[in-house]
Amino acid sequence: MSSTRMSNSRDRHHRSDSVIARKALAILRSYWDFLGAFASAHRTIGAVAPTSHAVAERMTRLAGIPHVRTVAELGPGTGPITRSILAALPSNGRLWAFEVYEPFLDQLRASIDDPRFTLLARSAEDVNAIRQEDAAAAGGFDAIISSVPFSLMEPEQTRAILREAGKALGPDGVFVALQYHPRYLAPYLRDAFETVERSVYPWNVPPVLLLRARHPRRQE
Ligand SMILES: C[S@@+](CC[C@H](N)C(=O)[O-])C[C@H]1O[C@@H](n2cnc3c(N)ncnc32)[C@H](O)[C@@H]1O
Repeated sequence: MSSTRMSNSRDRHHRSDSVIARKALAILRSYWDFLGAFASAHRTIGAVAPTSHAVAERMTRLAGIPHVRTVAELGPGTGPITRSILAALPSNGRLWAFEVYEPFLDQLRASIDDPRFTLLARSAEDVNAIRQEDAAAAGGFDAIISSVPFSLMEPEQTRAILREAGKALGPDGVFVALQYHPRYLAPYLRDAFETVERSVYPWNVPPVLLLRARHPRRQE
């Protein structure tokens, strides 16, 4: 091999090593930030680490993201599920994300630059208000993906978020939620939706429960 080819291949390896190192540092930083957030606001954050890539991808598949146009995400945090949604969402799709923790809002503003993405400093209960306020969501969301910590909220807030999510979904819309508590959410979901499916993803530490709900019950 000529010395030029050897040095080109050395440069390529060097570049890919530094890309891997930068990615590893970014992941470590996001774990560290998450742990700090949990320490200062554990009832709002509800988890000690961001959702893994494998779980985020599973949620986007359960919600059928490659085939939808309008998506709402409740509780994006540092954005692991957000990034999976954007990677799978069609180019003419839109994603609205609802977050209440200011440091996570700052991180998302700084790290996600995508014309399909709208970040809202609003609580998850406002999901139907946004459907009414934003003409692009007027037909209802095709999918709502949630990782808000329902089991740490007051029951009335859980009911309110599920009720508003039900009103905000379009005709064939689907609500997908991630939970670490094995039993908490399903009864609330069954009160709010006619169809509720559960699946456990055991390869995460701790194992996560994924719930998918359709057909919101009509509110009196
Ligand atoms: C368990 S973390 C999940 C974060 C991220 N989606 C992930 O999967 O790593 C829960 C997130 O929900 C947010 N959250 C809590 N209550 C909320 C509310 N009422 N409305 C919107 N977001 C909320 C928290 O600030 C936090 O970012």
